[in-house]
Amino acid sequence: MGSVGAKDVPELLDAHGKRIDGRGLHDLRPLKIEAGVLQRATGSAFVEWGENKVMAAVYGPREVHPRHMQQNTKAVVQCRYNMASFSVDERKRPGLDRRSQEISKVIGEALESVLFVEEFPKTSIGIYIEVLQANAGTRCAGLVAASVALADAGIPMSDLVPAVAVGKIAGKLALDLRKEEDNYGESDVPMALVPRSGRLVLLQMEGHMTRDELKTAMDMGVKGCEKIYEIQKAALRNRYSLGGNGGGEAQ
Ligand code: CDP
Repeated sequence: MGSVGAKDVPELLDAHGKRIDGRGLHDLRPLKIEAGVLQRATGSAFVEWGENKVMAAVYGPREVHPRHMQQNTKAVVQCRYNMASFSVDERKRPGLDRRSQEISKVIGEALESVLFVEEFPKTSIGIYIEVLQANAGTRCAGLVAASVALADAGIPMSDLVPAVAVGKIAGKLALDLRKEEDNYGESDVPMALVPRSGRLVLLQMEGHMTRDELKTAMDMGVKGCEKIYEIQKAALRNRYSLGGNGGGEAQ
């Protein structure tokens, strides 16, 4: 986030309270999820969410590489979030940078919390997330895609993990920030929910908001996650119903 002159800052909310893309403060970007899109992965899912395009592939449970990472009492969850060089405005240098390492860690931990890892000792569950096009909220899109891919792989899990960010733009809380809102807004709070238990398994915050705002932001995020959860379930239902095309869609 570089410093910009006031005239360069886009107007994030217009006089009618509409956002740059015409959404209201409580609206999600259009979300489409397709399950089972890759032949060679055990499970997979493709997510188009606003201008984000994210592929998730899952392998396993399978042998652990490197062997020394093997655990006797549970499966190891190996998660890799990667952003393609061409996914962002300014070419991203290929490879694992600190940001991708952090995101891989938080996504892996969130997903491990719903997987029955004790049932598969000495194995690895590999989760690969490839961001092909990015427009803010890619860690949430990655989680949404990866949890559908895990379910598609038939790996026992207690629930799916919908995720969304809530932020503050022009002094107001807004659901599901797009790039300009993330860049020029006051804060960004991505979160992930396990709907059946009501637990939050990811909660991060960049920028500032008051305690009351954070509480409201979490309520907005939970409502958003509940909508996303329905689309995730629809994608899986379509994949496994006869003649289904594997898709789940919002709006
Ligand atoms: O994607 P997410 O919101 O989870 O993570 P972020 O670190 O807050 O990044 C916000 C957005 O900045 C990304 O979704 C990309 O659109 C953009 N970005 C970029 O343009 N170049 C990078 N090297 C990293 C992020």
